[in-house]
Amino acid sequence: MKQLHKQSASARKDEEMPASDTPPYSPKSLKNPRSLPRSLNYILKEQRLLFVLIGIVIGATFFILQPSLSSSDGRGVISIANRESIDGLGHRGQTDFGRHGYGKYTNGVGRVPVGIGNRRKRIVVTGGAGFVGSHLVDKLIARGDDVIVIDNFFTGRKENVVHLFGNPRFELIRHDVVEPILLEVDQIYHLACPASPVHYKHNPVKTIKTNVMGTLNMLGLAKRIGARFLLTSTSEVYGDPLEHPQKETYWGHVNPIGVRSCYDEGKRVAETLTMDYHRGDGVEVRIARIFNTYGPRMCLDDGRVVSNFVAQAIRKQPMTVYGDGKQTRSFQYVSDLVYGLIALMEGEHIGPFNLGNPGEFTMLELAEVVKETIDPSATVEFKPNTADDPHKRKPDISKAKELLNWEPKISLKEGLPRMVDDFRNRILNEDEGRGSR
Ligand SMILES: NC(=O)c1ccc[n+]([C@@H]2O[C@H](COP(=O)([O-])OP(=O)(O)OC[C@H]3O[C@@H](n4cnc5c(N)ncnc54)[C@H](O)[C@@H]3O)[C@@H](O)[C@H]2O)c1
Repeated sequence: MKQLHKQSASARKDEEMPASDTPPYSPKSLKNPRSLPRSLNYILKEQRLLFVLIGIVIGATFFILQPSLSSSDGRGVISIANRESIDGLGHRGQTDFGRHGYGKYTNGVGRVPVGIGNRRKRIVVTGGAGFVGSHLVDKLIARGDDVIVIDNFFTGRKENVVHLFGNPRFELIRHDVVEPILLEVDQIYHLACPASPVHYKHNPVKTIKTNVMGTLNMLGLAKRIGARFLLTSTSEVYGDPLEHPQKETYWGHVNPIGVRSCYDEGKRVAETLTMDYHRGDGVEVRIARIFNTYGPRMCLDDGRVVSNFVAQAIRKQPMTVYGDGKQTRSFQYVSDLVYGLIALMEGEHIGPFNLGNPGEFTMLELAEVVKETIDPSATVEFKPNTADDPHKRKPDISKAKELLNWEPKISLKEGLPRMVDDFRNRILNEDEGRGSR
């Protein structure tokens, strides 16, 4: 109080100073020496200094702790990924999305607002209502991402994704990829294209349009929004191969004017477009060359050999073998493929990568496995072979093993029974449907 009183007294003294005593001009700099002790006084009084120091300590503590807080977020993401990578199918640790950038990947684009770098991804899957697409969508949703499926239902079915309809992280858009579409996403899995010979030969011009214009549209979208783009190409780009097994470096042996060209050449153009958008426009791209894949949700009568044999054996019809049945194929279970696609999308390498099971079977050997699995009394019926049917097909997957740390785990004998239950149910429902008409 005494001090306060003194201060106000001295202030009054200043006010009482006669005007004539004031110098005519007082430069601003002269004020400082007088105001410095006053501001120091101000800080020292009423424990203000103490409050300032406490503030500094709180601020410093926050900045020191911040890195460890964010690293604990990162650990959370990795643990989700690890949980995902154990699925009872022997895929433990195969897709360590955390390690491969699941948590850190922001696509190299400056669009992700500061502070939400670790948010879940928005992903488009074209052809997501089809066989492979629907399994991929299941995996992405289970991983915690938001997924938009684009499909025109040419060969896809709503039944393949109906179990996701109530899920707020799932959206379905009926759309033909031949027409442009505008969406904001981080990744595009481009699968839309009929994949079985019966379907793609049904309307070859539409098939090549889907491959060329559909891929152009999706690459254009990827460029515009800075999304990463993955093309599902095919082993058909190798045509009737003169190299066996096929490596990614092999350029293929394809008939450009045959009945399968709409698909084979269509996918080759799609690969070219993908690489040109990458080289010319800096789009982040990935290319998978998929070999024969089978599993639940395949179309029942799509002419692909595994689904044909399985459906025929269940219906007690002879299994149709085209040609002498000595042509070979390799058969990959769908969950193996899905793991491969995700590892490719999340990894650092563009590809192309062969994704297939290197186990090689003749058509007659496959028929034997189907017989063992479904009906030992099943028979085989031979028919003339179709045009341009490749004689041999077997992937060399050493590149995917080395760079994606991926290889298939499910053998044909393990995988086949898993699709048989699904086929049996659908065939039964089909028969019941017919019976009730
Ligand atoms: N399954 C295999 O063995 C295999 C082998 C090699 C390559 N692939 C490739 O994998 C992808 C998926 O194959 P799948 O076996 O799931 O085939 P699928 O026929 O079951 O699925 C294709 C999906 O694409 C949709 N689609 C087709 N044209 C479209 C268009 N213009 N616009 C929008 N959607 C369209 C279909 O309705 C369907 O849902 C295809 O690109 C195929 O070429 C598959």
